[in-house]
Amino acid sequence: GQHGDLTGRRVIVTAGGTQEPIDPVRYVGNRSSGKMGYNLAAEARDRGAHVILVSGPVALPPPFGVELHPVDTAIQMRDAVRDFITDADALIMSAAVADFRPTRVAEQKIKKHGDKSTGQNGEGRFTIDLVSNPDILGELAMALKGDGDVRDVHAGGSIPQLKRRLIRVGFAAETEHLVEHAQEKLQRKQLDLLVANDVSRSDSGFGTDTNKVLIFHADGTMEDLPVMPKTGVAAAIWDRVVPLLG
Ligand code: C5P
Repeated sequence: GQHGDLTGRRVIVTAGGTQEPIDPVRYVGNRSSGKMGYNLAAEARDRGAHVILVSGPVALPPPFGVELHPVDTAIQMRDAVRDFITDADALIMSAAVADFRPTRVAEQKIKKHGDKSTGQNGEGRFTIDLVSNPDILGELAMALKGDGDVRDVHAGGSIPQLKRRLIRVGFAAETEHLVEHAQEKLQRKQLDLLVANDVSRSDSGFGTDTNKVLIFHADGTMEDLPVMPKTGVAAAIWDRVVPLLG
């Protein structure tokens, strides 16, 4: 990494997967390990940034010298990002945010032989009704007009006025049609950069220490990076964010 090129910058990194509760002991979750996000946080710290790490539950030690904000759910992650966004220079969303959460959370542990109100359908079947989670980057894209002005988006509270131009980086974990999905996501979420990895490869994606990524830029260009340790991918991402910072 480039020593000190993030000095004086405030950056937010999200990491890990969110856990969406079903009842007091169960949740809907995903395979995100948090490794990519924790490496991004450590790399930004080493380059001099003040780092806010908003993390879902992971089995990783908290990185020294970063401000860690643990969350469980997508809504908690959205609220934590909003808390810090006003004076941030960059937001890197490496978290695997659950697209859906259970419509209702049972107050008591759901029993194997419960009634219909808890999802039992009889004959060994059980249904969990899900509702969409807010899209954290999507809401930001909606709220940010071209001039950096922010207006109210919708229920769930407003996004605060930003003090600085916020560089936004998203991730895409895809199992097919990687390039098409990545380009669509970059456009729809109006990102500065989108990092796409093919999670169907054994050397890339959830839980691995290496990643094989494509980096898509807002101008439509794409870079195909070789397989690298996640530390190297983290450095490559910050190398591309730094020139975008005002
Ligand atoms: O749409 P998709 O979930 O594939 O987009 C992935 C990117 O969007 C990631 O950067 C992820 O952190 C972010 N995301 C988000 N809010 C969601 C879902 C994903 O900000 N509800």
